[in-house]
Amino acid sequence: MWVDSSDYERALERAWEHTREWLRALPGRPVRPSNTADDVTAVFGGPLPASGLDPAAVIDFLAEHAEPGLMAMQSGRFFGWVIGGTVPAGMAADWMVSAWDQNTGLRFATPATAGIEEAAGQWLLELLGLPEGSDVGFATGASMANFTALAAARWRQLSNAGWDVNIGGLQGAPKLRVLVGAERHESLDMALRFLGLGTPEVVRADHQGRIDPADLRNALEADPGRGPTIVCLQAGNLHSGAFDSFPETISAAKNHGAWVHVDGAFGLWAAAVPGLRQLVEGVESADSWGTDAHKTLNVPYDAGIVVVRDVEALRSAIGMHAEYLMQDDHGPGDPMEKVPELSRRARGVPVWAALRSLGGDGVRQLVAGRAECAAELARRLAEVPGVEVLNDVVFTQLSLAFGSDERTRAVTDYIMADGRVWMSGSRWQGRDILRVSVTNWSTDSSDLDIAVQAIRDALEATA
Ligand SMILES: Cc1ncc(COP(=O)(O)O)c(C=O)c1O
Repeated sequence: MWVDSSDYERALERAWEHTREWLRALPGRPVRPSNTADDVTAVFGGPLPASGLDPAAVIDFLAEHAEPGLMAMQSGRFFGWVIGGTVPAGMAADWMVSAWDQNTGLRFATPATAGIEEAAGQWLLELLGLPEGSDVGFATGASMANFTALAAARWRQLSNAGWDVNIGGLQGAPKLRVLVGAERHESLDMALRFLGLGTPEVVRADHQGRIDPADLRNALEADPGRGPTIVCLQAGNLHSGAFDSFPETISAAKNHGAWVHVDGAFGLWAAAVPGLRQLVEGVESADSWGTDAHKTLNVPYDAGIVVVRDVEALRSAIGMHAEYLMQDDHGPGDPMEKVPELSRRARGVPVWAALRSLGGDGVRQLVAGRAECAAELARRLAEVPGVEVLNDVVFTQLSLAFGSDERTRAVTDYIMADGRVWMSGSRWQGRDILRVSVTNWSTDSSDLDIAVQAIRDALEATA
C-alpha cells in the first residue's frame, strides 16, 4: 500500500521534534531568513520524483531545508507589518484541526467544530461589544472578512432600492455609492473590485489618517436623493494605529441610510480593554465589522473574522443552497452561509482555544500590553537623537523617520539586513518611514531594548 496508517505516528513524532527545535531556537535566532525564495525553490523544486519518500523523511527534509528560509514571525523581536505570533493553545488546537480534518461547512455534518466556532463567535461578540445575534464567520483574513461584509452590504442596499442583485446582477442596477477614507486599507479596494463596485469615492483623512467627519457629511449630502450607499470606516490605521471617530461618522452615514462597515483588522480589539475602549466608542452602531484573530489575538494563520448584524443580508449574499448538502435551515445557520467558502478547515477552533486559554482577563492583558509596549518604545525612541516618531501612538503602531527619506531608507535596509529585529518600510504622509507594529504576545522590555539598540546602531552606521 502506498499510504500506510502506521506512518502517522512516525511522521507526527518527527513534526513534534522539529517544532520543538523551532520554538526553542526562536528567542536567539535572527528574525530575518537567510535564504531567498529562489534558493528554497532550487532545493524543493525540480521534476516530481516518480517514487515516493518515507513520510518521516519528508518531514525531516522539510524542517532542514525550510529553516534558512523561515522568517521568525513568532518572535517577540518581529515588528513588521501587523503580524501576531501564536499563543500555545492556539497552535496546539490548530494541530487538532488538522488531525480531525473536519470540513466545517455544515452544522449537521460537523457538529463539534461548527459548535465550537459558534461558541467562539459568541465570545467574540461579547469581548468586542458587538450586537448580540450578529452572524460571525471565520474567513482567511481581514481582506476576506471585508469582502464578505461588503457583499452583504451590497445585497442589502440594492435590495432596499428595489433591486435583487442575486437575480439581476449589477447590469442596470441602481448606482451604489461607496465612500472610504483616504487612508483605508487597500483590501477594501480589492473587495470592491471583486464585487463589481469599482473604485470608491475617497473622503479626506487628517494627519493621523482618520477620516474627516465634515468631509464625509459633505460627500453624503452631495447626493440628496439618498441612493444606496456604503460607508467604510477604520479601527486602526496600519501606519498610525489611529481610529476614525465613530459616533460622528456613523450617525452621519445612518442619517443618510448608508450601510456602515468597519475595517478593524487589528484595532477592533481595543474594544476588549476598558482603558482603550474609548478609541472605538460607538463602533457597535455600525452594520458590519472585519477583524483578524491572527493579528492582535495571536492565533496561528489564518484566522479572519467577519461580523454582520443583518443576518438575512449576509446569508442571502454569501450562502448557497444545494439539495445534497443537508443544510440547517433554521437557527444559527450553517458556517458555509457566513463566509464565501463551502469547504474549509475549522479555523474558528484555534480562536476558541486561544480565547479559552487566555480568558477575558488574559485577552485584556494581551491587548493592553501590546499598546503599553508601543507607547514605551515611542517614549524611548523619542529620546534618541535623529529619531522622529511621526504619529500619535494611541495603540500598537509607530511610524518613524530619520531625517531625509534617503536616510530613512538606509536605516530600514540596515534593520532588515541586521536581523536582531524586523521592521518594515513604507511611505506615509509624503515621507519614507520605518513602520513598527507591536503585535506579538511575547514582546517585552528586553525586546524593546534590542529594538532601540538596533535603531541606534543603524543610525550610527548610516551617519
Ligand atoms: C487595517 C487593515 N485592514 C485589512 C488588512 C488585511 O488583513 P489580512 O492580511 O488579514 O487579510 C490589514 C492588514 O494588515 C490591515 O491592517
